[in-house]
Amino acid sequence: MIVNTARFVISNTDYTKCPPESRHEYAFIGRSNVGKSSLINMLTGKPGLAMTSATPGKTMLINHFLVNDKWYIVDLPGYGYARRSKADRDRLEGIIKSYILGRQQMTNLFVLIDSRHEPQKIDLEFMEWLGENGVPFSIVFTKMDKQSATAGEKKVAAYLATLLETWEELPPVFKTSSEKGVGRDTILDYIEEMNRLPLVAPEQ
Ligand code: GTP
Ligand code: MG
Repeated sequence: MIVNTARFVISNTDYTKCPPESRHEYAFIGRSNVGKSSLINMLTGKPGLAMTSATPGKTMLINHFLVNDKWYIVDLPGYGYARRSKADRDRLEGIIKSYILGRQQMTNLFVLIDSRHEPQKIDLEFMEWLGENGVPFSIVFTKMDKQSATAGEKKVAAYLATLLETWEELPPVFKTSSEKGVGRDTILDYIEEMNRLPLVAPEQ
């Protein structure tokens, strides 16, 4: 798929105030600093579209971007940032989880995992929660450029092996580098495929 246009539409803390139309929507989630906003900028080809930062905890809202005047890409706050107060973390978790469970238009959730790290409990538990709630998701390994290709492949394989200890089947998996544009075409083609699926009309 070719991205011709991508523009910011609205930010919210409450999913019921998100854009009301029936359009396919793809959201990006993961720990703070994993590279969600950078990936959105890489996919859309617009470096300043979603705000990124070397300091974790940059994205605090549900951000909608309209792509090709047709579908939405959604940047979500990261979860699990330890330096935030417990009250703030709980509040963000509430925003994220109600969006995920309540937003009918969300066709697929991309769960981002830093390719350099060992499997973390917080991500594994989050994916289990998605499974229990029947939320369709895919896994995106980020920052593949930060290690050698061989080391990256090994890490990803080990991660998937851990998942297979509890999951019968793996969801779709993508390996990316926002820095180098790796994975862009594959993810955009996957989104294009999902855009052809019938849309679940939002409840009124
Ligand atoms: P929060 O909004 O704070 O939850 O973070 P986020 O997940 O949106 O991460 P963001 O895109 O802001 O990126 C965090 C840091 O990682 C920034 O300094 C990015 O430049 C860097 N980064 C993100 N993706 C990549 C990548 O693929 N390669 C490299 N080398 N750095 C990356
Ligand atoms: Mg962000």
